[in-house]
Amino acid sequence: MEDNFMHQVKLADEIFYVGVNDRKTHLFENYWPLPHGMAYNSYLIVDEKVALMDTVERAFIDEYLSNIKNILGDRKVDYLVINHMEPDHSGAIRSIVAEYPDITLVGNKKTFPMLENFYQIKQNTLEVGDGDQLPLGKNTLEFYTIPMVHWPETMVSFEKTNGILFSADAFGAFGTLDGGIFDDELNLSFYEEEMMRYFTNIVGKYSPHTQRAMKKLSGLDIKMIAALHGPIWRSHTDFVLSRYDKWSRYETEEGVVIVYGSMYGNTEKMADVIARQLAERGVKNIRVYDASKTHQSYIISDIFKYKGFIVGSAAYNNEMFPSVEALVSKIEHMGIKEHLLGVFGSFSWNGGGVKNLMKFAENIKWNLVYDPVEEKGALKADKFQMCIDLANAMADKLRE
Ligand code: FEO
Repeated sequence: MEDNFMHQVKLADEIFYVGVNDRKTHLFENYWPLPHGMAYNSYLIVDEKVALMDTVERAFIDEYLSNIKNILGDRKVDYLVINHMEPDHSGAIRSIVAEYPDITLVGNKKTFPMLENFYQIKQNTLEVGDGDQLPLGKNTLEFYTIPMVHWPETMVSFEKTNGILFSADAFGAFGTLDGGIFDDELNLSFYEEEMMRYFTNIVGKYSPHTQRAMKKLSGLDIKMIAALHGPIWRSHTDFVLSRYDKWSRYETEEGVVIVYGSMYGNTEKMADVIARQLAERGVKNIRVYDASKTHQSYIISDIFKYKGFIVGSAAYNNEMFPSVEALVSKIEHMGIKEHLLGVFGSFSWNGGGVKNLMKFAENIKWNLVYDPVEEKGALKADKFQMCIDLANAMADKLRE
């Protein structure tokens, strides 16, 4: 065994953190920005039997194996519990099987077809279902499926002796674990932002499934939550549970996100007028975004946070402006609910921006607070007044 001069991080007597930090990847799932990186968490239970809880992204296999051997030495791993098959966690399974050929792979009936499809592995499997237990010695794992949080095969493993929930993607966050690994070792405000962005971007489409999963797990005496991303929650489990509950119920705060697509500034000016009037009406949380500049990741996170959404588009080849079109299509696809909506835009000859935004309004079925405001060219007196009226209608509705 080679030397590995790293800390051994313990969740409990026989339970260790063996995850890795990814500070190289720019985009998670090749789409969502990672300005603060990403942690791929994995855990090792060293009891009479040894169980590894999920793996990591395959690029980190050397560091990962070193983390495992730093604790196990030459001892073998008996079980690999596969709570989630997305490759940020399953990517190292082949290497783990190669290193420990006698290992038993633990999953549910939806895990193993994916395992075969992704990695052509079908031997040494142990299928578990809701409530099944796997005794390891002092520690016992109990399994519960949580479909669509965030893939169909996703399950959690509850370690009964210490009350640790290995929760897969649920309760995860973007961001590396920079020294601090447990919630009481770090500043939670940073991780709250990254947790919300992670929830809304990755899991938010499955909010009803998240609600069902939380209900299913509500009877467990959870003392610690060990997710596959972000901090381990041991001192503030209520913090993470309450936020996931709030976000997956689409509960919002008073505030308005204004997003626009504008080539030469006419639509942008309407956004600024609306924003200023909202401020004059006392709305304090106002976020104005240029859809061409700010990644959807951040805008969607704020849409989940605030009740009001006002979207503006210049006409572009008789359609919406492309970056606005991409955003509203994503919102529609995610099925976000319970918002107040306003629509505005501008055009030069025959329009297309506002007309298509109104199709989005029909599809999303949010509460449209005022008529769409559409200007031809630069903003003039009557449409200026309509922008004011739109902002006033939004402010009124926010306080109802
Ligand atoms: Fe972190 Fe759905 O994978």
